Amino acid sequence: MSATAGFSEQSAAGGWRYDGIAKAFHWLVVAMLVVQYSVALVLGLILPKSAEDGLAAWHFAMGSSILVVMLARLAWRLTHTPPPPPADLSPGLQLLSRATHWVFYIVLIVLPVLGWFAASAHGATVRLAGLIPLPLLVPKDDPFGKAMQTVHPVIAITLLAVIALHISGALYHAFVKRDGVLQRMLPGRNFERDGKSA
Ligand code: HEM
Ligand code: HEM
Repeated sequence: MSATAGFSEQSAAGGWRYDGIAKAFHWLVVAMLVVQYSVALVLGLILPKSAEDGLAAWHFAMGSSILVVMLARLAWRLTHTPPPPPADLSPGLQLLSRATHWVFYIVLIVLPVLGWFAASAHGATVRLAGLIPLPLLVPKDDPFGKAMQTVHPVIAITLLAVIALHISGALYHAFVKRDGVLQRMLPGRNFERDGKSA
């Protein structure tokens, strides 16, 4: 195994693939975010007020779980080197891609913490994964917590634009460049680029 093996299984595959753990983290977080955004956006929009408490609890449970999964994922990412970008990708797009990935890591850790501040300012107890009660970060009606009730949704909605950019990039690789970058993050058999090392 090379020094960078693990995340990319570099020595075995010529560095052109994500391993099962990286893929599992990726698609688990995608699925959790689909639920999280669906619950958040339905919350207060189409459901009667009486359903909001239950939905808010779902939002806190899923959001705090995303925080824990992202912390584990970050630890994995910092100790395992991902596969390199395709060599023929322009430096600008390589930078954009890398920056997008790091924005996800940072925002998906900071955003749930800001949500936790927002919930605390409502006086609402957050239960990790819906089970373990977490302490209030600030007292009810705390000014910083109340500010986060505005900031948290703004960041969450802004993140949707970054997600759209990221998905556009994945589709660009799949249908324009046809360079196998999408396949290396898909479940199932790992893709070998041109059958040789990248
Ligand atoms: C990645 C995780 C999260 C995402 C994507 C997310 C997304 C959102 C979105 C889009 C809204 C706006 C809902 C609307 O206006 O209809 C919202 C509101 C809210 N979220 Fe989150 N959230 C996350 C994590 C959390 C966590 C972990 C908590 C609490 C522990 C939380 C607490 C709240 C609260 C209290 C509000 C309502 C703010 C207010 O108006 O008072 N969120 N969230
Ligand atoms: C909720 C939305 C998503 C988030 C937050 C997200 C997050 C991420 C992150 C953080 C990475 C970097 C992994 C690493 O190197 O550590 C990544 C890579 C990747 N994602 Fe996503 N992703 C999302 C949705 C999608 C979707 C829907 C697709 C497919 C259409 C996709 C395709 C990919 C691909 C192909 C890579 C590898 C890129 C490369 O090797 O340069 N992602 N994603």
